[in-house]
Amino acid sequence: MIEFILPLFGRFHPILVHLPIGILTFGIVLVFISRNDQTKYKDSIRLAFLLGGIFAVLSSISGFLQYQHEGFTWETVQFHFILGCATAIASFGLFYEMNRTSSSPKNLKLKSGGLFALMLFTGHLGGNITHGEEYLIEVLPPELQNLIGYEIEAEKGLVLPEQGWEELVYYDEVVQPILNQNCKSCHNPKNLKGELDLTSFDKLLEGGEDGSILTAGNPEESALYSRLVLPKEDEDHMPPKEKKQPEKEAIELIRAWIDLGATKSSKLGESSISPETLEPFFHRVEKSFYPEVAVEAASDESLSRLKSESFFAEKVSENSNWLMISCVNFQNFSNQDWSKLTEVKNQIVYLDFTGTQITDAILDSLNMLENLTVLKLNQTGISGKNLQVLNSNKNLKHLYLNKTRVDLPSIQVLNEHPILEKVFAFDTPLANNETKEKFNFILEIGKYQLPALPTDTIVY
Ligand code: HEC
Repeated sequence: MIEFILPLFGRFHPILVHLPIGILTFGIVLVFISRNDQTKYKDSIRLAFLLGGIFAVLSSISGFLQYQHEGFTWETVQFHFILGCATAIASFGLFYEMNRTSSSPKNLKLKSGGLFALMLFTGHLGGNITHGEEYLIEVLPPELQNLIGYEIEAEKGLVLPEQGWEELVYYDEVVQPILNQNCKSCHNPKNLKGELDLTSFDKLLEGGEDGSILTAGNPEESALYSRLVLPKEDEDHMPPKEKKQPEKEAIELIRAWIDLGATKSSKLGESSISPETLEPFFHRVEKSFYPEVAVEAASDESLSRLKSESFFAEKVSENSNWLMISCVNFQNFSNQDWSKLTEVKNQIVYLDFTGTQITDAILDSLNMLENLTVLKLNQTGISGKNLQVLNSNKNLKHLYLNKTRVDLPSIQVLNEHPILEKVFAFDTPLANNETKEKFNFILEIGKYQLPALPTDTIVY
């Protein structure tokens, strides 16, 4: 009838432990604020150490009972228990010390400090048992976790080559990266949720607390797959629903791997996987619009000087050294002002001369802008007679000639340009020509006319 008493007392352990912590902390604080006055607070301090000791003993006993009745292993609780007993003994020791008159205040402070450290550490170990070792660490920013050697690094996702994927080793190059990205944070040697380690093939074969998680050839029977496709609300669903979920294609890749036999050596190409499933993981190099060469940043002095001379001068983006120069506020810019730009000639990728006083002669200077990608010559005296010099601007992609006098023969020479993509020539003699001619670049002349409809000529 009274067998329940012991487990019940055990369950009071998490509450009981706070008594010695509170009472001893109180006593230790008094030791420190009494400074060197031996008599001040003496009785209170003695009482705190005595009561703290008694409750530490009760905590240790209840803790031991909890260990016995709640299925904790001795390995998990041993240090916590031993240090808990040590805390009790140390408290009584200090109580005894207070009764002796010989003890120096300095000595007492030292020992109280030691008791405090011991108590904190004991409490910390206890917290680890109830909340898990990562309880405090989990909430730290990744950089800090890294610093204390705890970070389970967030892996970047699966990336596959668009060509030759058939030859990839299915487990190492496909399955493991998926597990690293989606599962590793909870299933690794330091954080063994469900006693499952998903950081290597061998560990995966060992399974978790419910045994094997893999049945070769049968995904539905394999927890490694079946848990992923459970409804999200199901408590067995993996990863837990509040966590980022793997892409459906990633789940399909795991299914197909198990289907194929879940071996370490099989190749991706041997499976039933189609290229469409792999599509989201293909690695594509985003080709940048501006040249992919490194240049030094223009100095701050150069930039402020350009600005003081009324140029608009900015980097094309924050992390780029490329410069964008415009003369919108410098409409008097003429060929003689060219030298003001030579200092940043390597950085200029975008140059806008719209509305300025430039003439054809300036084009000869432009070939020193090796990285020039966008050039705007709108509304200027450019006649087009020497446009061929721009063919040596090997990075030029967009050329604007709106509202200039360029005509068909003058832009034909640009057909020789290696990469020119677009030429804009609205409001030019060109725009009036019925050009059927094909260019190596796209010519925009803004004649978006609808074909004539029979109804257009009906007279009502
Ligand atoms: C946020 C933490 C977390 C993440 C991320 C996570 N799991 Fe789990 N997993 C758990 C916990 C907790 C358990 C134990 C409770 C349970 O069995 O549901 C568990 C248990 C399991 C089990 C059962 C082990 C056993 O034998 O009982 C499998 C299988 C599993 N997870 C697979 C995965 C896979 C596959 C992923 C990645 C796609 C994943 N988990 C991601 C927390 C996580």
